Amino acid sequence: MNSIEKRCAEYKDAKTLQKIGLYPFFRPMTGSEGRRVNYGGKQMVMLGSNNYLGLTHEARVKQAAKDAIDKYGTGCTGSRFLNGNSDLHEQLETSFAKFFKKEAALVMTTGFLTNYTGIGTLVEKGDFILSDSENHASIIAGCRNTQAKTVVFNHNDMVDLEKKLAEIPAEATKLIVVDGVFSMTGELAKLPEIVALKKKVPNTWILVDDAHGLGAIGATGRGTAEFFGLEDEIDLITATFSKAMASLGGVIAGKKDVIHYLRHRARGFIFSAALPTASAAAVLKVLELIESEPQHLKKLAENIEYLKNGYKNLGLPVLPSQSPILSIWIGDEVKSLKVVAALADLGVFATPVLFPAVPFGNAIIRTSLMASHSKEDLDFALDAWSKVADQLQLRVEAPSTDGLHSRAAGYSFEKFA
Ligand SMILES: Cc1ncc(COP(=O)(O)O)c(C=O)c1O
Repeated sequence: MNSIEKRCAEYKDAKTLQKIGLYPFFRPMTGSEGRRVNYGGKQMVMLGSNNYLGLTHEARVKQAAKDAIDKYGTGCTGSRFLNGNSDLHEQLETSFAKFFKKEAALVMTTGFLTNYTGIGTLVEKGDFILSDSENHASIIAGCRNTQAKTVVFNHNDMVDLEKKLAEIPAEATKLIVVDGVFSMTGELAKLPEIVALKKKVPNTWILVDDAHGLGAIGATGRGTAEFFGLEDEIDLITATFSKAMASLGGVIAGKKDVIHYLRHRARGFIFSAALPTASAAAVLKVLELIESEPQHLKKLAENIEYLKNGYKNLGLPVLPSQSPILSIWIGDEVKSLKVVAALADLGVFATPVLFPAVPFGNAIIRTSLMASHSKEDLDFALDAWSKVADQLQLRVEAPSTDGLHSRAAGYSFEKFA
């Protein structure tokens, strides 16, 4: 056996979960209306999607994508650098620069790629990245994709960030990178404090990954920077189109020269195929709707409050959140899988978040809201949660989130087999 075969053969976690009938991943959907989805012939209320504005099935958005297919075909068959560019990609960049109040923007094929190649290209040996310990995997990949030194600071811990900034030579360039909305808990980055530190420490820039903020947070859906009134202070914003924008793709916005540099130097952008025009057209339409129809964002905010209060009334340990992500703390990994299975039996789709996405023993169930959820959908979900809470004894006193931020090692699902 070579080392590849050995490594793969020795990986047992997923097989163990399959064996005990609690494997919660890759559930094949056979149809979707957005808020209701079909899995294996069973209709379920979707409580685990990032479709925050509920626009994946909006008639005008779908039509825009269909029109683009008719005009440009199903794929761009190459990099934007060479043959894959279109006027839609460029319109999208102009629109996003304006939307984020930045000089320029660059559209890429996924949000992951945007962080990976964006961070990886901009900072170099001699520079420093200060990265929150709960940042998304694409940011971690971006940090590994450069010879700059990455310093990880404790999650949302401004004392630790300040201390770590102070240890770096003043003349070195420092890029603070945070998720605007942390993807597992829905908690916001402490942008006001981070901006204050940037003002105090020379040669410091801020990059906010607003994957979960774009379209969902801020008075007009412009994201976490808008929520805090700090749009002028954030140097770089990255975001994805795979959540509230109801499509696929990624964007980075900032100064003109920075975007020009990325356009010509970011390997993951240059050497990868362009975003399909159908996806670009859908995003353009969603942007238009965000600006012209504030009711979607308003309805999302109402739904967040309704479900949050519903969870609290049921006595469920819901983690603090100011976003459409509402996570219920469970703790035990296997118990969280049982909760997901029990909810599915009752017709509710929710997702477990397990180690290593969270520290071992701090499993959560991540639920998320859409503007298109009706009150009946949410009542149906709350009724299911109530039954599962009784069945699996989930009603506990308010959880501490401290545990979420401690690391654990040496875990294996095999012990549950
Ligand atoms: C915070 C964050 N950044 C980036 C991404 C990657 O986005 P995409 O799905 O477009 O690759 C995600 C998606 O899960 C995310 O949650």
